Amino acid sequence: MATIKTIGILTSGGDAPGMNAAIRAVTRAAIYNGFRVMGIKRGYYGLVYNEIGEFDTKSVSNIIQQGGTILKTARCKEFTTVEGRRAAYENMCRHQIDALVVIGGDGSLSGARIFAEEYNIAIVGLPGTIDNDLGGTDSTIGYDTALNTIVEAVDKIRDTATSHERLFFVEVMGHMAGYLALNGAIASGAEAAIIPEMETEIDQLADLVSRGFRKSKNSAIVLVAENPETGGAMGLAERVRREFPEYDARVTILGHLQRGGSPTAADRILASRMGAQAITALIEGQRNVMIGIRNGELVYTPFAQATKHKCKLDATAIEIVKMLSI
Ligand code: F6P
Repeated sequence: MATIKTIGILTSGGDAPGMNAAIRAVTRAAIYNGFRVMGIKRGYYGLVYNEIGEFDTKSVSNIIQQGGTILKTARCKEFTTVEGRRAAYENMCRHQIDALVVIGGDGSLSGARIFAEEYNIAIVGLPGTIDNDLGGTDSTIGYDTALNTIVEAVDKIRDTATSHERLFFVEVMGHMAGYLALNGAIASGAEAAIIPEMETEIDQLADLVSRGFRKSKNSAIVLVAENPETGGAMGLAERVRREFPEYDARVTILGHLQRGGSPTAADRILASRMGAQAITALIEGQRNVMIGIRNGELVYTPFAQATKHKCKLDATAIEIVKMLSI
């Protein structure tokens, strides 16, 4: 593998708060260590269509506190094709980019793995997604901010739920992973979380009703992980209205507001540490790994393992929601 002189950086997939802090850290750590940095716009799309420009230390000034990504992001269909990746590689050569830092989630890092294997390129990934659904890391960049956004929203919904004595289904994102729903439920004191990792939604709903969530309380909040297969919170509310008309059920879908906002201190620190480590990893000769954090230590996980993660949620967390909502 040739010596690395120029590093390209891109953000891909769904944006996540803290991506800008990561871009800043990668850029500055790279320049500090004598590398040239190229910013690639709109994720892999910019690599395929040559939307690439040089970054200096000022390019990343005043962004650590901003949500979103100054590089923009996209889900790029072209990059899933052989021709698209060839065009991407040619543009890397045109700009003499020797290595890439890719900030994104599951799909983005899977794309990085294929590209790295096809063209023998040095790529280091940073886990940038609110979903927290990657292996090899206790937390992804953006997850903490999204959790805090959920808690803030649920606190507000609780005011009206209590006043009207209603049952609320609050749908959160997660891309078929229940971290946001489960930990959001613990942090907001919700009565239950309905998540894809557990039995079927129907069983979970029946369990909830059989526990009689109105016995000791006059209102309840249930956090529901989005689930296109079952209809998520809307589907559950429909069922409750049909089968348990005594409950006054309402739905709030938090949607994309969970992806916005200024990153929390925890996400800024995580992004800064991981971004700087991405450059250390390239200097150390690490290739095709994702930077993660485990018990406070930064660790490397090959892309193939990071993206194959089958979410194992802590069973005690599920029990905690139940136990603490009596
Ligand atoms: O992966 C991040 C995420 O926000 C998921 O939680 C969600 O399912 C998906 O992206 C939504 O994607 P889009 O913004 O493309 O609709």
